[in-house]
Amino acid sequence: MQVFHTAAELRAALAGQTATAFVPTMGNLHAGHVSLVELAKQSGQPVVASIFVNPLQFGAGEDFERYPRTLVADCEKLAAAGCDLVFAPDAAEMYPAPQTFTVQPPDSLANDLCGAFRPGHFSGVATVVLKLFNLVQPRVAVFGRKDFQQLFVIRELVRQFNLPIEIVAGDTLRCADGLAMSSRNAYLGASERIQAAQLQRELAAVAAAAQAGERDFEALAATAGRHLKMAGWRVDYVALRDAATLAAPTPGSTRLVVLGAAWLGKTRLIDNIETALGNPA
Ligand code: PAJ
Repeated sequence: MQVFHTAAELRAALAGQTATAFVPTMGNLHAGHVSLVELAKQSGQPVVASIFVNPLQFGAGEDFERYPRTLVADCEKLAAAGCDLVFAPDAAEMYPAPQTFTVQPPDSLANDLCGAFRPGHFSGVATVVLKLFNLVQPRVAVFGRKDFQQLFVIRELVRQFNLPIEIVAGDTLRCADGLAMSSRNAYLGASERIQAAQLQRELAAVAAAAQAGERDFEALAATAGRHLKMAGWRVDYVALRDAATLAAPTPGSTRLVVLGAAWLGKTRLIDNIETALGNPA
């Protein structure tokens, strides 16, 4: 496996390579990331992974500085998973000049759900992903369903800018107690770590009720939020959306996604559960 830190080296290594499968990450890799590499490998194309903690997608006061940087261990995991090439630039390499041209997703996406609590986040994500796409020029790119809204933003970016890239979605890998794997789980103290699986349980309970025919979505979301608050979480949101449009469910919706973001102490966790929509009770 080759590891490159500059765009020039990456370009030289990829010259003549007509089709690659790309897995962008911020590093501190866990089994969820590795599963995306394995999915990329299934395309039969050489796999490129990137590791870059993108300052543009972190707001003031967020965890950019303390985000875990573990390049050596990450490269071992990527090599073991059969990754062919790693691009791990630093911020000066990705942003040699201030990034004054940016991708601005529509307000309906950029200011919704996580975007409402992380202003500028999805613009930062879309901008760095477009830059990475232009550097790697992959045929396929793999993203996790764990970050459902991010996946939606990337699909729209590709569609609206006619990028010749197929976006493949990977399922969320979970720990034994159901907690979605995340680099941020490392921030959790021992008792928080035990409590953390509650987020997924509450979202799953909402999904099960909707699947069983319950149609008072506001009440379902409010109940889940109340349970979390009672247990000591600070809740950003719990929301039910149409899984195809990310908009509020309509009578024609067939698949729902229940999304939530909440804080345990200083750690913000997000998760989501997709479900088919059953007949009303
Ligand atoms: P990061 O949080 O490192 O995630 C990289 C990819 O791994 C994303 O597509 C994410 O959805 C996926 N992922 C995270 N946890 C997962 C899990 N438990 N199971 C399966 N997949 C999982 O998302 C980012 O980085 C950045 O925003 C990025 C797209 C790289 C742009 O900077």
